Amino acid sequence: MPQPNAMRCLVVDDEPRLRRVLVRLLEGEGFLCVEAGSGTEALEMMRQEPVPLVISDLRMPQMDGVTLLREIIAHWPDTAVIVVTAVAEVESAVACLQLGALDYVAKPFHLDEVRARVMQALDKRRLILENRSYHELLEQRVQEQARRIEELSLERLQALVHFLEEKDPYTRGHSVRVGNYATAVARELGLTPQVIDTIALGAELHDIGKIGVSETVLHKPGKLTESEYRHIMEHPIIGARILGPLMRDAPPALAIVRSHHERLDGKGFPDGLKGDAIPLEVRVVTVADSFDAMTSVRPYRPALSVQSAIRELEDARGAQFDPRAVEAFLAAFPDMTALPVATPDVRPLHLPPPAVELRRT
Ligand SMILES: [Fe+2]
Repeated sequence: MPQPNAMRCLVVDDEPRLRRVLVRLLEGEGFLCVEAGSGTEALEMMRQEPVPLVISDLRMPQMDGVTLLREIIAHWPDTAVIVVTAVAEVESAVACLQLGALDYVAKPFHLDEVRARVMQALDKRRLILENRSYHELLEQRVQEQARRIEELSLERLQALVHFLEEKDPYTRGHSVRVGNYATAVARELGLTPQVIDTIALGAELHDIGKIGVSETVLHKPGKLTESEYRHIMEHPIIGARILGPLMRDAPPALAIVRSHHERLDGKGFPDGLKGDAIPLEVRVVTVADSFDAMTSVRPYRPALSVQSAIRELEDARGAQFDPRAVEAFLAAFPDMTALPVATPDVRPLHLPPPAVELRRT
């Protein structure tokens, strides 16, 4: 008598007498058997409730055993299939093995032989499944390790960004403030937690490429020459190159690093992306970055007041900035006087008029 948790087995044969013989044998071994008189009926039963073991005759009217085997392997690859053949059909049986049947039994068969073949086939199936889940587990562990290594590398880069900013009184706290502004804007826009995390990461690392920019140019007190400006504006490309290998799984965060100086009207750097070609995550960070840059002292200009910076954002809506991102920024910080803007402990040597167009962040 089969146990409640007995393995289910489907016996397929157009001859009821042969089906009964196999069913009786398998039930004696503890299987819970179901029967089908044709390939079509067998497939219908598999669709209703797949079974782990199928024993099928090869020669049947309508759908032969080979077609049935192909269908089962295609849709239920974890099912063990044993084909029953006439002795004269051994070639077909071999073809079935090549198609994925686990074994075959030649008629007339001994019940002991069928019993042994079934047990062997199930052992083989168990080993295949165990082997696969072992490899899946291994693959999962490798991926987890790779992710952890990437996280550790990113954590180091975040620490490096903070260290570099701390060294420079003009940019101290910039990446953290940009991160705070950008995540507040992202929340205001109703973006998902996953996108908000991406924005936070990209915002924090957006200027990492400045590592590759000459400090003399970066801290030049006066107006930049054209070539100095171009040199500084290489930092998004340098940043994307540094982070590329570490952010393969986070392309939007990488886009923030590469494209945070793009403008909606296509006049930005480094790719001249226009409108929707600039991902929303980037457009959010651009507003946050520009606001913090404007309200921070730079060696070449004083800080703009919060009110003036807001005006700049509003005036450049649609040209430089995404209007929705600007609106969300204003909505996220209704009390402008409470904004945690930069409080630099330095004063610029020269105070040329604010150079909003040649904004260096
Ligand atoms: Fe930048």
